[in-house]
Amino acid sequence: MPTHILLGVTGSIAAYRSAELVSLARKRGHQVRVMMTEAATHFVGPTTFEALSGEAVLLDTFRGTTSTMDHIEWAKWADILVIAPLSANTLAKLACGLADDALSTTTMALPRGRPAVLAPAMNTEMWEHPAVQRNLRWLEELGRYRIVAPVAKRLACGDVGVGGMEEPAHILDEVEAALG
Ligand SMILES: Cc1cc2nc3c(=O)[nH]c(=O)nc-3n(C[C@H](O)[C@H](O)[C@H](O)COP(=O)(O)O)c2cc1C
Repeated sequence: MPTHILLGVTGSIAAYRSAELVSLARKRGHQVRVMMTEAATHFVGPTTFEALSGEAVLLDTFRGTTSTMDHIEWAKWADILVIAPLSANTLAKLACGLADDALSTTTMALPRGRPAVLAPAMNTEMWEHPAVQRNLRWLEELGRYRIVAPVAKRLACGDVGVGGMEEPAHILDEVEAALG
């Protein structure tokens, strides 16, 4: 049985690298489903993920792909959840337990005990903002999420600093390690 990886993609410039992650995961024999925030669709089209995963993409809580309860069914389907890239906004929502779109609602519905890996990506000022660092601590305190820390590099905005999403291959290694 192939591993079911549920990939969440949020509104970051690093979203295009998630396509690489899907492609790599398929090559390693995993089955992948993708859910996107509305903001993520400004960076990469759902068609790219549909083509790479071979599955419909979940975009809207109220317009499911196979049923009206996709947020529950998709959460149950997942052997593991990975959100890459994770925006500052969605990071804050998860820290507070908010569920106002398909991605955050499905994340909240993930059965306990199922591993979840988060790969934040954002501008250095955003990453180092005390609110983001506090939200990160809150997430860690929940004990439900494994964080793949962003790396230092030249960011898309031209700044050099911490905030770049980790390499897709490394994120996938973390996912496989979390699955044991
Ligand atoms: C060009 C561009 C790049 C962005 N890159 C990031 C990013 O890397 N990380 C981030 O947290 N927000 C980034 N944002 C802002 C988010 O897209 C915005 O906060 C959005 O509301 C996030 O929504 P979501 O969490 O629902 O995906 C970027 C915005 C633009 C216009």
